[in-house]
Amino acid sequence: MLAIVGSAAVVGLQALPVRVEVDVRSGGQSGVMTLVGLPDAAVRESSERVRSAIRNSGLAFPGNRRVTVNLSPADIRKEGPAYDLPIAVGLLAASRQIPLPALEGAMFMGELSLDGSLRHVRGILPMADMARHSQATALYVPAGDAAEAALIPDVTVYPVDSLEALVAHLQGFAPIPPLPAQTDFAAAPPPPAVDFAEIKGQEHAKRALEIAAAGGHNLLMIGPPGAGKTLMARAIPGILPSLTLEEALEVTRIYSVADMLPADTPLVNQRPFRAPHHTISHAGLVGGGRWPRPGEISLAHRGVLFLDELPEFDRRVLEVLRQPLEDKIVTISRAQGTLTFPSNFVLLAAMNPCPCGYYGDPERACTCSLGMIQRYRKRISGPLLDRIDLHIEVPRVHYDKLSDATQGEPSAVIRARVEAARRRQQARLAATPFTCNADMGPAEIRQFCPLDSEAQNLMRSAMRQMHLSARGYHRVLKVSRTIADLEGAADIQMPHLAEALQYRTRVLEI
Ligand SMILES: Nc1ncnc2c1ncn2[C@@H]1O[C@H](COP(=O)(O)OP(=O)(O)OP(=O)(O)O)[C@@H](O)[C@H]1O
Ligand SMILES: [Mg+2]
Repeated sequence: MLAIVGSAAVVGLQALPVRVEVDVRSGGQSGVMTLVGLPDAAVRESSERVRSAIRNSGLAFPGNRRVTVNLSPADIRKEGPAYDLPIAVGLLAASRQIPLPALEGAMFMGELSLDGSLRHVRGILPMADMARHSQATALYVPAGDAAEAALIPDVTVYPVDSLEALVAHLQGFAPIPPLPAQTDFAAAPPPPAVDFAEIKGQEHAKRALEIAAAGGHNLLMIGPPGAGKTLMARAIPGILPSLTLEEALEVTRIYSVADMLPADTPLVNQRPFRAPHHTISHAGLVGGGRWPRPGEISLAHRGVLFLDELPEFDRRVLEVLRQPLEDKIVTISRAQGTLTFPSNFVLLAAMNPCPCGYYGDPERACTCSLGMIQRYRKRISGPLLDRIDLHIEVPRVHYDKLSDATQGEPSAVIRARVEAARRRQQARLAATPFTCNADMGPAEIRQFCPLDSEAQNLMRSAMRQMHLSARGYHRVLKVSRTIADLEGAADIQMPHLAEALQYRTRVLEI
């Protein structure tokens, strides 16, 4: 007898429908289960787990029969242990232990333990989304993953503790109550990062960080050792605007597929802050692998990617940032075509001005030769620098400032301004797919960043003197728009543009 069970495969960030066909018939070599349809090693090991789980749940594994399991369509690679549950359900249905009509329109996924209990699987959110689009009537997932599935409305999600409980439900003896949709969303309060009030001096850098947070602009900090670059970067999560529900779902989908969702929070409700070490590999940064997984630039989606000690990163690794910094998505090629992951992040980078760290410092002499400094700075290419909107110097803090007991502005106050500026951007960009100034394309820049004649004159002479590229020109306009938004100004005025241009000075030029 043949049973057909609905399930799904995750490819990139998408889930695709998979049919699990289980055929149980007499004859042939008894007790052998044959799996076909491009399964990977973890799927092939499924037969042992399914056999034990069925026996340990007080159910009968069909003895003296030949079992064939086909996962279709055959051209999608099936990965991981999530097919345990649909295979077990199919086996039980094909051996008449579960009524066949109970499987109609239903989808199953979950890993089985040998004792028949269900274990977490990754990618539940995209699978639930697919279940909704394919109008599945019921979605059966491990109990621990049910809250994640229930983030998607219009899908009936059943939390399953064990195979035994599921069979009793499908037989109609002990119905499992479905989990209500989890629709209420509250962005989490900012994480307990370093408070800006604790950072002495560095008003210029703090201002630039506020602009970066408000408009989603990239920022590079250059300064001597111990000036507070790493400290300030670690403080930025405390001033980022809160996530919208839509953004939270985008981020959650990435973390679900990467299997990095924290167990107690099905929905990511804070902007990510990722700070990979400079030894990170190409695949670790941009994503990839045999089963492509999101890399750091996608894990930082809608949040911040902090690259400390920027020149220490492998130059080739840094160059691959160029495409995602421009397109806000990353394309990964693989044998079966290409995949894309979203990667819309704020790049925050820090570096010393030279190998010894003291070039340009008024108090301590730099011991590097000109050649050494040039080689050091060449590790960061011009095209990468051109994509960084705000370049700032972070000088050493003097004793008087450091020992001053008066506290600076607390993060909460800065964050309130950032939130207000972000709300203005969201309102202005409501008719576009964008949420912040940094996302704007040329059409939006033309529409939303007009300059008065005074500002136009300044821009014209700045373009000439600073040798701004077309990209640089657009980026300066976007930063000006954010500065105006922080001030609550309807139009970009001369001082806004002047400040934006000042962050564009090439601090790396010697
Ligand atoms: N502006 C500041 N206000 C208060 N404390 C500071 C400041 N700058 C530095 N510090 C103190 O010095 C420590 C080191 O600073 P931090 O690690 O941020 O320096 P850095 O600029 O990243 O240096 P490096 O170039 O060596 O990485 C901080 O943990 C903090 O204790
Ligand atoms: Mg540092």
